[in-house]
Amino acid sequence: QELQLNLEQIEKGGYDHFMLKEIYEQPAAITDTFRGRMRVNEGLIKMAGVDDNIDKFLNARRIIIVACGTSWHAGLVAEYIFEEFSRIPVEVEYASEFRYRNPVIYKDDVVIAISQSGETADTMAAIKLAKEQGAFVFGVCNVVGSSISRETHAGAYTHAGPEIGVASTKAFTTQITVLTLIALKLAKKKGAITTSTFYAYLQELERIPTKVKTALESNEHVKFVAEQYKDVSNALYLGRGYNFPVALEGALKLKEISYIHAEGYPAAEMKHGPIALIDEQMPVIVIATKKGHYEKVVSNIEEIKARSGKIIGIVTAGDTEVKRLADHIIEIPETMEALTPLLTTIPLQLLSYHIAVMLEKNVDQPRNLAKSVTVE
Ligand code: G6P
Repeated sequence: QELQLNLEQIEKGGYDHFMLKEIYEQPAAITDTFRGRMRVNEGLIKMAGVDDNIDKFLNARRIIIVACGTSWHAGLVAEYIFEEFSRIPVEVEYASEFRYRNPVIYKDDVVIAISQSGETADTMAAIKLAKEQGAFVFGVCNVVGSSISRETHAGAYTHAGPEIGVASTKAFTTQITVLTLIALKLAKKKGAITTSTFYAYLQELERIPTKVKTALESNEHVKFVAEQYKDVSNALYLGRGYNFPVALEGALKLKEISYIHAEGYPAAEMKHGPIALIDEQMPVIVIATKKGHYEKVVSNIEEIKARSGKIIGIVTAGDTEVKRLADHIIEIPETMEALTPLLTTIPLQLLSYHIAVMLEKNVDQPRNLAKSVTVE
């Protein structure tokens, strides 16, 4: 027993939980994911699974992304990136819905399955269906040799390393990294973006691990914020554009490990329902970074303030406008709009982590959840 405990402590590398360790591993995990693929000096991205099938990608009628849970949120971020840069229409589907609704699948569709474990039953079934209908199926998995990575025609691994915490963290940011690389690569091949934009993104992507480190430096402050809200029974997460999926992911993280009910919403949709929930008890976590609909989000924040909601703003370093309105702000470094999810997600992971720890929940193995869902 004692030996076992010690072994686990060693595996946790000095952190109290695997989740925290994995949150802190993100700078390295993101670097491992683009290392060797992104050649900034040569101005190119090499990914064998994409290179070998480049015609399939370039001639794709659509990209259909299938996934579950956090991987589905990474798919939503990818939708924004693919459409903006590669100009290929994208649909993002819950694998469980896709597989049973007799979807229209064309032979020239590219289906991308995203799965950390590579074992999720619904995602697997969605892939089989797409293959039967003649589509090209590409996998983005973390576990090497997993069922989904074997069942797909080609793929690109995330190199996050083993993820033990049931609530996904580094798998999410590395999935976004892989999908960003693919989107940029296709955009360049198609001539959909200028060479200078392509270069600018490569250079900025290379800086992201350092910026994630900077975002992690807010940990103590995030812990302080967590202390103020740990006893709430609901929370609302809002974001727009690239940060709308991050709002969904932030809410999911809180639900999963602290068992506090949370909802993620596109900020502008708030007025069509969730605004009715806002009173002085309701914390609203708003992602309000400088690039990407900033002024619009600020006016959403004003609407929350007018109804006495508690505002926690995730903002770009140096922000003054949201600071004036919010009860708390958490800063992240500035980056290019399409890359903000890689940074805005960090404080949300930490916030849910600290709240769950303060509530004495089983952070790494939350009740009713499994790391890999191999049944439908
Ligand atoms: C489970 C896990 C989630 C994960 C989802 C999809 O529900 O608890 O963290 O996002 O499955 O898993 P996958 O391995 O396919 O990414």
